[in-house]
Amino acid sequence: MKNSKKFKLISAIIFVPILIIGSFLALNMIDQTSPIAKVHTEVQEWGKYAGINIKIKTEEAKDYSISISTPTTSSDHINDEIHQWLEEEEKHFFNDLKQLKHRFNDDMVGHLNIQLEIDAINDHLYNLIFTTYTYLGGANGENKTKVFTIDLEKDHIFVIDDMIPLQDKKAFKNFQKTVQQIITNDESLMMTVDIESLDNALVAYDQLEWSIHEDSFRLYFDEYEIAPSSEGVMTLDVPLEQLTQLIDEKIVKQFQLSVIEDQIEAKAKKEQKQTKKEHGKKKVQNKKTSNKDKKVKKEAKYVALTFDDGPSGTVTPEILHILEEFDAVATFFMLGSQVDYYPDLAAEVAARGHEIANHTQNHIDLTKVRKSVVEHEIKLSREKIEKSTGQTPRLVRPPYGAYNDIILNTISESDESIILWSVDPQDWKNRQPKQIADRVLRAVKPGSIILLHDIHRTTAEALPKILEELSKDGYTFVTVSELIELENIEAMKVIRGQ
Ligand code: NI
Repeated sequence: MKNSKKFKLISAIIFVPILIIGSFLALNMIDQTSPIAKVHTEVQEWGKYAGINIKIKTEEAKDYSISISTPTTSSDHINDEIHQWLEEEEKHFFNDLKQLKHRFNDDMVGHLNIQLEIDAINDHLYNLIFTTYTYLGGANGENKTKVFTIDLEKDHIFVIDDMIPLQDKKAFKNFQKTVQQIITNDESLMMTVDIESLDNALVAYDQLEWSIHEDSFRLYFDEYEIAPSSEGVMTLDVPLEQLTQLIDEKIVKQFQLSVIEDQIEAKAKKEQKQTKKEHGKKKVQNKKTSNKDKKVKKEAKYVALTFDDGPSGTVTPEILHILEEFDAVATFFMLGSQVDYYPDLAAEVAARGHEIANHTQNHIDLTKVRKSVVEHEIKLSREKIEKSTGQTPRLVRPPYGAYNDIILNTISESDESIILWSVDPQDWKNRQPKQIADRVLRAVKPGSIILLHDIHRTTAEALPKILEELSKDGYTFVTVSELIELENIEAMKVIRGQ
């Protein structure tokens, strides 16, 4: 009697949690086949690439495992397209798993692995190359490739027609012939590729997977598509020289396809020579002036842009990208606590030629704490910055611009200088990009130090206008340390207000 009562009690204890957990999982994973998924999400906030974060999701369950790399760019439009595609792939996998599971034994474990390779053409043009491996029982898995060639500046995902006008019959024939020739000129390709299948794939050109590189246009074919499956995913590289006549002129410029540019230039020179001969005309003067020539001005006006409180995984890459576009350098007053999160990003900021300065470890008001805490806050952050960026910060900007004699003494002891700012558009308070830009432009004068924060998207949005207008006005962007030298500012002088 006692025993059976005990048994009931134990089974109730065991059973109730199972029911609760079971229903919880069932509610959460209606589409998924196994209730014991171990979800692990790894977030790589910063790759090597400005404006692209990569998240890797891995899930392991009794009957499946998945690993999916999801990039998030600075463009919502591009994100929507790519994320939708990834979701579809995942959904298909789970549907197929459900259907095919019954055909194979219970031990079958399905796999979905979507890997991402990023091929950067420059700082805003990328080939995002996804390789998908799916295993759903049987002898072999399946491999395929999907490419998104994107322009982060123009929020654009390229289609093959942007590259080559294949809707034009003549252009298509030309392209087809070029690709076929690559096969016929290569013995081993002749052995493996089925020309008829290749033709079919080319005719459906809008379904083709492709990417563009410095000297080639690459085509990807799925397993079985044009060759026996033993060949796996097949890639064909079409040399750009062979596509000179076909690649759209705008693309040649945008992607700076030097192989084609050189050919066009050589052709133009040849033609120019001929016309010269014909008409006996004067030399055509080339009025190109490089950016460097522009910089050398008699009355130089310097200004220093500063960015506080970062680095931030989302905004800092955007700001780096914009600064590069305008060929501008800036000073980043980093928080040690943020450098802890984004050491690679901090290193990237330094690698791009910007000055790294110290904004303390935890952004506390230094006037409200003991000297030992002041010392610790500055020292710790300096060490973090040195370790990640290789730069030793020479400048300290105390949080809130708050300082007193203790802080001044501490900093002078450590061979650093306090620097505040002279223009404050209050970008942390006002989140209207246009107003932020207008405030800066109204207040700026030669020698200004402009306070901005690389943690607000609206600041990044205000930046192009600021850079554009100041460039037009003849300003040169320098780091704060450079400005101190150029303007003969005393090393220990504290700059605040105007
Ligand atoms: Ni701050």
